[in-house]
Amino acid sequence: MKKRIMVVFGTRPEAIKMAPLVNELKKSKHLEPIVVVTAQHREMLDQVLKAFNITPDYDLDVMRANQTLSHITSRVLERIESIIKEEAPDMVLVHGDTTTTFAAALAAFYQEVSVGHVEAGLRTYDKYAPYPEELNRQMTTRLSDLHFAPTIRAKNNLLNENVSSNSIFVTGNTVIDALNTTVTSSYKSGVLDEYEGKRIILLTAHRRENLGEPMKRIFQAMKTIVNTHRDVVIIYPMHKNPKVRELASKYLNHERIQLIEPLEVLDFHNFAAKSEIILTDSGGIQEEAPSLNKPVLVLRDVTERPEGVESGVLKLVGTDYNEIVNSTNELLRNEKLYKEISNVENPYGDGQASIRIIESICYFYGLISERPKDFSNS
Ligand code: UD1
Ligand code: UDP
Repeated sequence: MKKRIMVVFGTRPEAIKMAPLVNELKKSKHLEPIVVVTAQHREMLDQVLKAFNITPDYDLDVMRANQTLSHITSRVLERIESIIKEEAPDMVLVHGDTTTTFAAALAAFYQEVSVGHVEAGLRTYDKYAPYPEELNRQMTTRLSDLHFAPTIRAKNNLLNENVSSNSIFVTGNTVIDALNTTVTSSYKSGVLDEYEGKRIILLTAHRRENLGEPMKRIFQAMKTIVNTHRDVVIIYPMHKNPKVRELASKYLNHERIQLIEPLEVLDFHNFAAKSEIILTDSGGIQEEAPSLNKPVLVLRDVTERPEGVESGVLKLVGTDYNEIVNSTNELLRNEKLYKEISNVENPYGDGQASIRIIESICYFYGLISERPKDFSNS
């Protein structure tokens, strides 16, 4: 009988990063998926489910307007309990650092079901940055039995916290698996046509710790950038969070700043591939950009993804107005620098992460005899 793996996710980035794994699990000889979505996000989750053709077995439908962290945590905990009891899976797989991740791992632990943590071991060791994700991820580590670290550095973080090396597998990040299926040279969409021939800066900003003054500074910097460079257009697919939208509509009114709805992932990836620079406070986009040969200015003071900073493709600019304006100007003006930093090998993955994760689970259960080789890009 196949081992039954309950895959739980609830937000856009988790969905994008779990989708390749779900689709690979469906093909496995030894394992089968049960898909549970918490719907911590609604519209932004549904976009991804549709794009990857995934129909969840269970939908907890927890999202509500202006939800709080306690609300998400308690609703997920309460609603998933009966499903874990009824399905009695062999393992619950969670992803990353959201409140869905932590609450689902906790619920599995309460039922004494093994937990596998995808994208384990990323750390800033700063309790409030990213907030609350740093502690969500750390607490999920404590609850997990198997740890799928995307990079060697993530593995080392776990080893330093006395996680047993037997339980850690270095797999690469599944977001690169997703990207390999979405970005194609033949891609055509009306979304891009309007901006043909323009230098595009792609902006995304949504982090809780950036809401308020930091986001206001980011938006003021955007205005200065378009006023300085007449050939530049800034495209901002806005997160659905009403707090983000309110700030954006107040501070980003300019004819060359386009506020648009969240893009379907296929559109977003191909759009990113056609843009010149990406400015973002997102986690996943930092991992995707090196594969697209795009430099990223990271709108955060710290990152749990330092590999890209070391390779040069990511630069931490925080939310300081001058730093954002100066760093963007430098990239727009200095072609040599631009070329140097945008052509690096992706340190986060090679597109084979889902397969490695599945082999690791099979190895854990003794279904295959050979331990999968760790991902390394060196
Ligand atoms: C969440 C995650 C964050 C992740 C981000 C990805 C937590 C604590 N945060 O943050 O780690 O980086 O998702 O985007 O888990 N909303 C909608 N429709 C949607 C999605 C959101 O209306 O499709 C609204 C919600 O009602 C909510 C607000 O946006 O009030 C914020 O959503 P929430 O999931 O609480 O936090 P995010 O900032 O999205
Ligand atoms: N993304 C998308 N449409 C958009 C903006 C982002 O599909 O309009 C994708 C992006 O490619 C990445 C993921 O969403 O894979 C990042 O999600 P988000 O920024 O919401 O979360 P984070 O990565 O910060 O947790």
